[in-house]
Amino acid sequence: MKKIGLMGCGTVADYGHIPTILHTPGLELAALFDPDPKRLHAARDKFAIPAAFTDVDEFLASGLDAVAITSPAPCHILNVRDALRHGKHILCEKPLGMNEAECAEMAGLARAAGRMLFTAFDYRFSPASLAIREMVRNGAIGDVRSLRLIYIWNNHGKYQQDAHGNRVLSERRVGRMLEGGPMVDCGVHQIDLARFWLASEVKRWQAAGAWVDDYDAPDHMYLHLDHENGAHTMVEISYSYCYTAKEPINQFVYELIGTEGVIRYDRGAKLFEIRTAQGTTALPFSPEKNFAGMYQAFAAALETGQSDTLPTAEDGLVAARISRTATDALAAQHREAARTRP
Ligand SMILES: NC(=O)c1ccc[n+]([C@@H]2O[C@H](COP(=O)([O-])OP(=O)(O)OC[C@H]3O[C@@H](n4cnc5c(N)ncnc54)[C@H](O)[C@@H]3O)[C@@H](O)[C@H]2O)c1
Repeated sequence: MKKIGLMGCGTVADYGHIPTILHTPGLELAALFDPDPKRLHAARDKFAIPAAFTDVDEFLASGLDAVAITSPAPCHILNVRDALRHGKHILCEKPLGMNEAECAEMAGLARAAGRMLFTAFDYRFSPASLAIREMVRNGAIGDVRSLRLIYIWNNHGKYQQDAHGNRVLSERRVGRMLEGGPMVDCGVHQIDLARFWLASEVKRWQAAGAWVDDYDAPDHMYLHLDHENGAHTMVEISYSYCYTAKEPINQFVYELIGTEGVIRYDRGAKLFEIRTAQGTTALPFSPEKNFAGMYQAFAAALETGQSDTLPTAEDGLVAARISRTATDALAAQHREAARTRP
């Protein structure tokens, strides 16, 4: 049994990581860490976790084998430095770091410490994603030439209600927009899936953005990736689609277009199918996330010292590099255009 500690008792820890670790054979959730005692104690009490710390060194000295990092992205670098100083293996939420330099530092520190550092791209582990990977490998749609990966939504909406019932900006969405916006926060999953499914590195990228809202980063963004094998991926990501609508809707779609057919996945329609000259086959639908599959792979990695499927620090770095440079270039163009506009 491997003892896991969790750093950051917020939203994704509450619905994803904590319940999953508690149900994963071979893992024991031994301790929690959060600098905010209210958040820490709420999670400890809700899930009956034996130990909870606001002091990071006490937490990391409490006999853990590994940690899961589920703090906000700007905190990942500090959490990784601390965990590696104490010799822990790590599964860190995406985006791994705020930029390529942070990710490179984390990867270097893990290598030097001889510890495993994985990026928690849980979309990889969805049965639908793993089936797509198999179909691509087996040539089920021939040579895959084009991917359309779309996730346009409102990131829970522009507004929330404060304690007095007043409409105020949603802290969650403001935080994610200030951290870099939808491509840096969410699009890294799609960048990772394209590399995972095609097993082909991205050699060139370009992007376009739209500013529906008023932030430095574009809140609606298109990214075009050219892979070494000649395939092309288009990622469309938005945090402003229906962001003020009373009844918001969203679109979450994967389409893979090959020389011999098309694979289609549509979360909203619960549709997963392959269309070829032989006909159309409905495939078993599954949600896009799979924390359970990711933690089974983490448990196996902690036993064997390696993993074929868990995204590495390098995978986290590539996704951060592409999403961050593309977003920063657009933000710079946008500022320049605002400065020179008559
Ligand atoms: N993989 C997914 O599907 C998915 C989904 C949502 C969020 N995320 C990622 O998970 C991370 C957390 O997101 P969230 O929505 O749960 O955030 P959140 O703001 O709801 O929770 C973050 C928690 O971390 C705590 N924290 C603050 N500073 C810390 C520090 N220095 N060390 C440790 N903990 C600290 C906060 O007190 C809070 O309890 C982000 O990187 C986000 O991108 C991933």
